[in-house]
Amino acid sequence: MNFLRDIQSLAERGPTERVEEECPDCDGYGYIVTDNDVRICHCLAERQLRKRLKKANIPKRYLSKSLENFKNDTDQRRNALQRVRRYVKEFDSSSEKGGLFLLGAAGTGKTHLAVAALKELIEQGHTGLFYNSANLIRDFRNRVGGSNTEEEKDRLDRLVSVDILVIDDLGVTKLSDFVREQTYSIIDQRYSENKTLIVTSNLNMKELEEQVTYPVFSRVCGMCSIVNPGDIDFRIGVSRNKSR
Ligand SMILES: Nc1ncnc2c1ncn2[C@@H]1O[C@H](COP(=O)(O)OP(=O)(O)OP(=O)(O)O)[C@@H](O)[C@H]1O
Ligand SMILES: [Mg+2]
Ligand SMILES: [Zn+2]
Repeated sequence: MNFLRDIQSLAERGPTERVEEECPDCDGYGYIVTDNDVRICHCLAERQLRKRLKKANIPKRYLSKSLENFKNDTDQRRNALQRVRRYVKEFDSSSEKGGLFLLGAAGTGKTHLAVAALKELIEQGHTGLFYNSANLIRDFRNRVGGSNTEEEKDRLDRLVSVDILVIDDLGVTKLSDFVREQTYSIIDQRYSENKTLIVTSNLNMKELEEQVTYPVFSRVCGMCSIVNPGDIDFRIGVSRNKSR
């Protein structure tokens, strides 16, 4: 049945829509057809991966960050890395607590680990979106004035639909009533649909609850397992101990 559908969709695409002119394995069609099977060619799979990565909105500085280049030279870093590794390996998109909540002081590698996890999950075939909190607030506000660019509109439209949403630096500023409602709406919809959330914050639990309000805080905690990469600021190599 799938085979017939695949053949039909190939026929409908026609030779003018060839995807990779250069690929010798599929002659640029993106699919390889054998006697009783149709499978996606590596060239199309790579193209789709590049597209998903581009749409994920990962900041330039973090594009190269990965689990491989996260140093595990302290117990807390080692533990955090192990947890995130296991998380991506055993990722279950339908789990009720399928997210990650990366807590810890500034510079301890929270965004690094969040991006690394997001990239791994995108490589597994999921869709994802990275949003820095300050940019999210800016885009919400601009939506009211109708001044979002097409790219921003598209990003906002995907806040609920993507498989994995990363909100970086949650609670970085106190939310206005309007932004609080918008944030609640996104988190609540994802919570209701069991959709994965990865959050980072350098606030302690009490501060975060105050900043984002209890309904958001409670849902985030319900959706995510806490990982804390420690208190040493990697940027300057100094401990920033603070009670969590
Ligand atoms: N264990 C580590 N191994 C390699 N690089 C690291 C590690 N921890 C942090 N870094 C690097 O240090 C820089 C700061 O890390 P990152 O931005 O992830 O910190 P953060 O915890 O998100 O900080 P903030 O709370 O200020 O946002 C990044 O360039 C990151 O790649
Ligand atoms: Mg960060
Ligand atoms: Zn090919």
